This record gives sequence, C-alpha cells and structure tokens, in this order.
Amino acid sequence: MTVTFTYYAHACFSLSDGTTTLLFDPFFTGNPANRTSWEDVSCDYILVSHAHSDHLGDAVAIAKKNDATIISTAEIAGMCADEGCKTHAMNIGGSYRFAFGRVRMTAAVHSSGISGGLAGGFVVALAGQNFYYAGDTALFSDMEWIGRKDEINWAILPIGDNFTMGIEDAAMAVKLLNARHAIPVHYNTWEVISQNPEEFKRLTEKMTRATVSIVEPGNTLKID
Ligand code: NI
Ligand code: MN
Repeated sequence: MTVTFTYYAHACFSLSDGTTTLLFDPFFTGNPANRTSWEDVSCDYILVSHAHSDHLGDAVAIAKKNDATIISTAEIAGMCADEGCKTHAMNIGGSYRFAFGRVRMTAAVHSSGISGGLAGGFVVALAGQNFYYAGDTALFSDMEWIGRKDEINWAILPIGDNFTMGIEDAAMAVKLLNARHAIPVHYNTWEVISQNPEEFKRLTEKMTRATVSIVEPGNTLKID
C-alpha cells in the first residue's frame, strides 16, 4: 500500500495511507516557508512532538475543524482537551494501537515548551512501514535502540542545527537507527537554521546504507 508524505515546511508534514491522514507538528500560521493555510488541510489525527510554537502551531484550530484527535504527551493533550479538542494522551516509551496502526512515543533531548512535560518523537506503523519522526532533538545514543526495537523504514529528522541536530549529527542518527531511508526537516525556515540538504544527503549516503529523499515545501513523496 502506498503512503503519501506531504511536506508543508519546517517540521510540518503529513502521512496518508489513503484512508487515514496523520498530520505532524502543524505549524502553518506564522511559518515563513509554509504556503498552505491550515484551513485547507484535512486530517484524522494530529501528532504533536512538543509545545514550542513551531510544533504545536495550529493544532487546536485544525483538530476542531476536522474533528481530528490530537496525539501527544499528557501535558499537551490535557491543554488541548481544555480547549475543546479530542485528544489521546501518551508518554515517552508507551505504545498504543490505533485503528490505522501502532504509535510509540520516543524520547527526545530537547525542552518541551510546556510546564512539566517532555519533548518527544514518534514511531508510527502505517501501511506496513515504520516511520520515525524524531521531533526536535539532539543526537542521542539510544537512537540505536529505537532502530533495534522497530526496523525503521523512514527516518524523518531535523537537520537545521542551532535548536536541534545539524547535518553531521543527523547523518549519525541515520546510522544509529540503521534506517533504510531518511527525509530532512526543520531547516531553512529562518536564517538561523539555514542548511544545504544536499550536503546531508551526500554525507548520509556515504556513511550509511540509507537513501535520502529531499522534499521541497508543498511537494509530496509517494512511498511504496
Ligand atoms: Ni522545539
Ligand atoms: Mn522546533
């Protein structure tokens, strides 16, 4: 079954198996690289890695408009539930089998942007493939264990540096994860995270078995 990856910009993207659409870190309003309006996006679930404004973004408005369920940490889910959204609270290390597939929340080395919470990432099983979205994070050696627990077909990783991993650490992350494919995100939104994704592709494909797909904002990638 084909999965469609749609890159909106920054760390905002969706995965769809044609039945269910999962939207990640829905930063539309105020995102200088995102040409899509949040009002034009439809989805069934919204996965939020942490509460920084470039990740929580328009989650509440999109969830209400689409009757979508927000999946995030207990703290963020609680805040969104207080605003009238459907939510599913999780926490780091926990898995849950949704109708579309299993989701596991993973650790991230990053601040959360909300009192008492942790930043995280997600391993999502969709249409027979495992997708690992790291969220905002530094490189950490337990990525090796994330890749041992689930074979990572696609790793979606920040490369922007300054707030997260840069190109070299993201390439090392692909190596630790033993991922088959990687997609860079969280770069070129602002000058401070300006990066050349071709350099990430060159380095990663030299260091690892993975192939790297660079997706321009507004474009889609069909994954078989
Ligand atoms: Ni952040
Ligand atoms: Mn960020």
